[in-house]
Amino acid sequence: MKKTLFLSLALTFILCSKETKSPKAAVVSARIEASKIGIEILKKGGNAFDAMIATNFALAVCFPNAGNISGGGFMVYRKNNGETGSIDYREMAPKKAYEKMFQNESGEIISDKSTKGGLAVGVPGTIAGLFEIHRKFGTIPMKDLIKPSIDLALKGFIVTAGQKSSLDSKRDEFIEVNGQNTFYANEFKKGDTIKNKPMAEALKLISEKGEEAFYEGEIAKSIVEEVRESGGIIDLEDMAAYKPKWRIPVNFKYKELNIFSMGPPSSGGICLAQMLKMVEKYPIKEFGYNNEKTIQLMIEAERRSYADRSKFLGDPDFVKIPVDTLINDKYLLNRMKDFSFSKATSSSKINPGEIISWKESEETTHFSIIDQFGNAISTTTTLNASYGSKVYVEKYGFFLNNEMDDFSSKPGTQNMFGLIGGKANSIEPGKRMLSSMTPTIIEKDGSLYMILGTPGGSTIITSVFQVILNAYEFGMNIQDAVNFPRFHHQWIPEKVEFEKERFKNATIKSLQMKGYDISSDYIRKIGRVDAIMISDEGFISAGADPRGDDAAAFIY
Ligand code: GLY
Repeated sequence: MKKTLFLSLALTFILCSKETKSPKAAVVSARIEASKIGIEILKKGGNAFDAMIATNFALAVCFPNAGNISGGGFMVYRKNNGETGSIDYREMAPKKAYEKMFQNESGEIISDKSTKGGLAVGVPGTIAGLFEIHRKFGTIPMKDLIKPSIDLALKGFIVTAGQKSSLDSKRDEFIEVNGQNTFYANEFKKGDTIKNKPMAEALKLISEKGEEAFYEGEIAKSIVEEVRESGGIIDLEDMAAYKPKWRIPVNFKYKELNIFSMGPPSSGGICLAQMLKMVEKYPIKEFGYNNEKTIQLMIEAERRSYADRSKFLGDPDFVKIPVDTLINDKYLLNRMKDFSFSKATSSSKINPGEIISWKESEETTHFSIIDQFGNAISTTTTLNASYGSKVYVEKYGFFLNNEMDDFSSKPGTQNMFGLIGGKANSIEPGKRMLSSMTPTIIEKDGSLYMILGTPGGSTIITSVFQVILNAYEFGMNIQDAVNFPRFHHQWIPEKVEFEKERFKNATIKSLQMKGYDISSDYIRKIGRVDAIMISDEGFISAGADPRGDDAAAFIY
């Protein structure tokens, strides 16, 4: 006994002595180049908002499958004085869009129309979002925030193994959409350097002429041309009309945590609130991490929340969303009334939908920042699928999003992520499509505690849900909380997905016996969470997800 105590004290000493010095600031993102560019801005005296803008531009260069200037996203912030807020720069449907644009005359969905080619492209929001953030909170001139990414585009970035396989897997589609001479028809090997001069040109124009270059000037013209050539409907008026929106974050309590996350048009904040509140009344800490009861409870909360998502959520400027009811304690208690540990609830008993095939994609990208002043930023941004619509603006070196697929092309049918949508998320001109992005910031006892988010399509919300529980309930450090195996359920399809060979066979078998439809052939990695945690003593640590090339950079 004494020996065990000694060993444990010795271990604590070793761990503590290794971590005596807390970083003053951290940026954690999908690529080390981007994290470092963000940190350099902080070192120059910039704040988290400046670093966010610089990191976003860098990801657009070196992480072209999801980092972007031509997609959209959301940012949640908490300033060092405790003030919180969020901005929505989600893409919008062009004015010629209409409800049945992805259906044929018989009302059937036309395969690939909402995911590939010009019609899939939503009016991009990223550049307008970055400029709006800069106007409100920036302290360093925009051109100095863009310059490191111009240099990166000219100097080039190194292709990682993951990036090579991602480019290989999509090359045929790049050629199908853009022709044989398109830039990414080139084969790149691991270790190659990709230089992107056209992208440097685009960034220079934005740096010199501001957002007008993108929305009204040369770049807008090229976007409209490429979209038209590949069958799309975005015009210059759509581009000029784009506006980002400041929105009040969804705010809710989970035990002693005060959580701020993204509200509609993202479903992230509301669904995260629902899931956490549905499990709150159960002694989940006693059950333990990945204990069968914990897993059941989380799956059942996820099932009920995704069913609500399909019915109630959409763009708040177009549909009335009963936010307060959806995250109300009594409502959620009632929602779990029929849950029993003895048997899985069938999704068909909750709210049925028509099921078609489920195509997988895990793209989107998230980054978290804490600056040396204590300001916190949580940003998730996306082109939707990997390399978006695959439409490539050759003249300026970037892909366009395929965010139109996040609308419900036909109520009751599934999108690329298998998500069912309803009337609330139907296509209308100028409307924003429903998202799952869940940039989140958490306070504990009034102080900043965690900054997190992830890519992963429909698995975004469940990944954030799990990482919060890992850290807060199961006491993991943030890197473990990010690393540990994850599972995912989204009401429809009925199946529950577990990261392959990362769970005990006995647990899986027992859950199957209770009626859970568990896929054994599932090989997808679930989420790539990039998180920062601040201990009660103020120690800053980062968790960069090893499922990707994600990496953190710090100031000490
Ligand atoms: N495009 C993925 C999402 O917004 O959820």
